[in-house]
Formats: sequence, C-alpha cells, structure tokens
Amino acid sequence: MSDSLIELARDVLDNAHVPYSEYTVGAALRTTDGEVFVGCNIENANYSNSLHAEEVAIAEAVKSGYTEFDRLVVTSGARDGVTPCGMCRQTLAEFCGEDLEVVCDLGDGEVATYTLGELLPNTISLDTLEQAAEKRRREE
Ligand code: THU
Ligand code: ZN
Repeated sequence: MSDSLIELARDVLDNAHVPYSEYTVGAALRTTDGEVFVGCNIENANYSNSLHAEEVAIAEAVKSGYTEFDRLVVTSGARDGVTPCGMCRQTLAEFCGEDLEVVCDLGDGEVATYTLGELLPNTISLDTLEQAAEKRRREE
C-alpha cells in the first residue's frame, strides 16, 4: 500500500522552502528493497536554482547508493494530485523504468496512479545515445 509513503510525503511538506510560490510539494521514493527517501521543494530568490521535491528525493537516494525504485508518491499542500513536471519525469527516467508507479495525492484518501511510461513515453536514455553512437560507427 501507498499509505505510509503518502504520510511520509505529507510530513516533509513542513520543510518545503517556498517563499515565492507558497506551493509546497513533497515526494517519497521507495527503493526496490523497501528504503524510502523523501524530498520537498526548495526555492531560490533567482527562481531557476529552485529544487523540485522529486529531484531532492532522488538525489538523497542516489547519494546513499540506491538506484532502483518501484514507487514514487507526490503530494502538495493543496492536495491537488500534482504530478512530477517534465523535468522531474526525465530525472526519474534516468534511474527508473517505465513501470515505476507514480502515485499522486488527491486528498480524502483519493489518489491518481500512473506509470512513468504513461507520464513520459519515448524518453531519451543511455540507450538512445548508444544507438546513435553505433549508427555513426556503422556509417564511418
Ligand atoms: N514543483 C515541484 O517540487 N515538483 C514538480 O515537479 C512540480 C513543481 C515545485 C517547484 C516550485 O517550488 C513549486 O512547485 C511551484 O512550481
Ligand atoms: Zn519537477
């Protein structure tokens, strides 16, 4: 179940640094062996340096040596079912397969669940670059 992940994602909303948007986002990312890493959004006065909750969670996990994930829960203070933005979808795709479950909190016990493949089909990946390199070699 996602219930405990939803609670963890909601708990970290308290740490969001959002003086500009006042829109808090929390994420809880579960590894295939059951560890959970959380993240919140951390905004910056120059705007563009702002960190998204999902990228903070994945950075926490990767720096701790975890690179395999099966579920991500995302919530916002607005409980509006916010989904990872395009940039975060691509960041997730670096480590997660198309079957990653992305659970978005709608409040009142409701969630919307997607797979990463639904949210980001046809992603660029290491495979894309390797295939292009192979094509260049064949054409030499
Ligand atoms: N935000 C996230 O943390 N994750 C997303 O993928 C969507 C957007 C944050 C960034 C900014 O601090 C606030 O939500 C409003 O865009
Ligand atoms: Zn994002």
